[in-house]
Amino acid sequence: MIEKNAIVNSLDTMWVGRQIVCFEQTDSTNTQGKILVQNGAEHGTLIIADQQTAGKGRLGRTWVSPSGESIYMTLILKPDISVENVSMLTLVAAMAVVKAVEQLQITTDCMIKWPNDIVVNKKKVCGILTEMTTEQNQIQSVLIGIGINANTTEFAEEIREIATSFYKETGCQVNRETLIAEVMNQFEKYYDIFSRTQDMSALADDYNGKLVHFGQMVYLNDGNERKCVKALGIDERGALLVEDEQGSTQAVISGEISIRGIYGYV
Ligand code: BTN
Repeated sequence: MIEKNAIVNSLDTMWVGRQIVCFEQTDSTNTQGKILVQNGAEHGTLIIADQQTAGKGRLGRTWVSPSGESIYMTLILKPDISVENVSMLTLVAAMAVVKAVEQLQITTDCMIKWPNDIVVNKKKVCGILTEMTTEQNQIQSVLIGIGINANTTEFAEEIREIATSFYKETGCQVNRETLIAEVMNQFEKYYDIFSRTQDMSALADDYNGKLVHFGQMVYLNDGNERKCVKALGIDERGALLVEDEQGSTQAVISGEISIRGIYGYV
């Protein structure tokens, strides 16, 4: 079980995680987030589960969520931003995870695979699913769902090649409560910077410094078309700038196109 008090003791925030809802088991923290929003949950409320029975991944995938070893959490935001800016909050969350891992000295090899997968040794250690609720065509809430493979020892056959955990990569157990709190501490700091400009202009350099394929050749997957391009880093809108073989630059929007490394997942 996750110890709420241990999280609170390591929190250094004004508003993020000041309300925490902990479940021993739930369907999905994102689903619970939507229910809490309907019941008036505050900006910054954090929902955590030790186990999820219907964990959701991106693109309708399942996020396998056994008990006792990983982190499943959703942060409820009620930002005053337009719909086009919401995807940037996912990038902000990815930066918070990487910075927290660095701060706690879990590993120095924690990087971002654009837009929002966190990788260690070129394998995925964390995924982020951002969902939104609306009310009369306005954003009511943004739910940032973060799944971190902290101490996972075994992965299903289908994902074994691309997934890993901090424990598998370092041989050290991660204290889940400390990591949850530090991700929240970092998120508040980055969110405040983001809020000032409502874009990634003040954060892009930091983000690009953590991009695992910065300056490298990657495949752009656009439906059934695959193109080999050089990844140049994100712009102030959070789009990935890529250069094709003819030398022309294109800004790729997350959600429309995915990227793959030339030799595999990264
Ligand atoms: C991905 O596919 O990479 C995103 C995975 C997101 C998983 C997290 S776990 C906590 C939250 N609740 C969910 O059901 N999904 C997200």
